[in-house]
Amino acid sequence: MRSLEIKRQMDPSAIDEVSALINATWRADGVRPLNDHLWLDLREGGRKGFAGVIVRDTDHHHIVGYCQISRGNESWSLDLIVHPHHRYDSMEIAPDLITAALDIVAQEGGGHVHWWVFEPNNIHRQLAHDAGLEAGRHLVQMRRSLPLSDEQLAIVTDFTTTPFRVGVDEDAWLTVNNAAFGAHPEQGGWTRDVIAARQSEDWFDPKGFLMNWDNDTLAAFCWTKVHPDTEPPMGEIYVIAVDPAYLGTGLGKRMTIAGLAHLSQQNLPLAMLYVDADNAPAMSVYTSLGFTPHHRELAFVGDVAAK
Ligand SMILES: CC(C)(COP(=O)(O)OP(=O)(O)OC[C@H]1O[C@@H](n2cnc3c(N)ncnc32)[C@H](O)[C@@H]1OP(=O)(O)O)[C@@H](O)C(=O)NCCC(=O)NCCS
Repeated sequence: MRSLEIKRQMDPSAIDEVSALINATWRADGVRPLNDHLWLDLREGGRKGFAGVIVRDTDHHHIVGYCQISRGNESWSLDLIVHPHHRYDSMEIAPDLITAALDIVAQEGGGHVHWWVFEPNNIHRQLAHDAGLEAGRHLVQMRRSLPLSDEQLAIVTDFTTTPFRVGVDEDAWLTVNNAAFGAHPEQGGWTRDVIAARQSEDWFDPKGFLMNWDNDTLAAFCWTKVHPDTEPPMGEIYVIAVDPAYLGTGLGKRMTIAGLAHLSQQNLPLAMLYVDADNAPAMSVYTSLGFTPHHRELAFVGDVAAK
């Protein structure tokens, strides 16, 4: 017997149960489900616009499926997790989860929805189609081994970066980030609250958040993140951008190298990053530095009408 429960507020035991499902899925796929935004919403337990839909099966002690929605600046994110032992039953478990989640979006005024899928297969495509969603944004995870070559390191010999100063650099950073990313669905339109939430995360390390100043003007930044628990441990170019006034001067490449050099100093053997498949300047920088595609993630998107 299956039961479906909608939670607008996550209590600690539900967070533990969903975390166990996330860990089981992470072990099975090698990739953590729930992007950072959704994970923070889950951990914080119920921001406005949050809902977690849980499916249980009386024959199993664990949750068999989970769907989460979070309201972003201009759109909704949806994520779906079916327990790896129950994937054969995805077409039974997932439709009710997605329907319940999209129903909440409709009741809350509707809007644009993104559902990110790791290496999408025909089941994902069918579920998306049945829910009225279609293929949209396309992200590529790229990787390269570390360290950098001497030739690459030589490019940053006379290049200076400084660590992010907590409590000082937030506004300058927000200005460059929001100008560089514009209407980007996840990275654009950040506020002090969003950066404060990132700064409170265990992984946040201002030493790995590199800034490049042109006198008192922030010209570019490269924010790195270490994943110590992956096998092997990985360093991520988490967010990188050049102020639009400084574009096309080789700064993006130098910042990427500076970020990679910082990761390499921590003895990380592997670097990774996510990039939109159609972001030509970024693709060009990363490819020229030896990054190659590791896997693809696709967003199924659609507009949900208000109810
Ligand atoms: C991606 C980004 C950081 C690149 O920075 P940049 O300073 O413009 O890039 P660079 O001047 O270092 O260019 C590096 C290379 O990319 C090439 N390039 C630049 N723009 C390009 C374009 N539109 N199409 C193809 N190649 C391009 C350059 O010719 C150069 O190649 P070369 O080293 O062989 O001469 C910058 O465009 C940016 O901030 N974009 C907005 C934020 C963003 O998308 N961040 C990345 C998220 S993954």
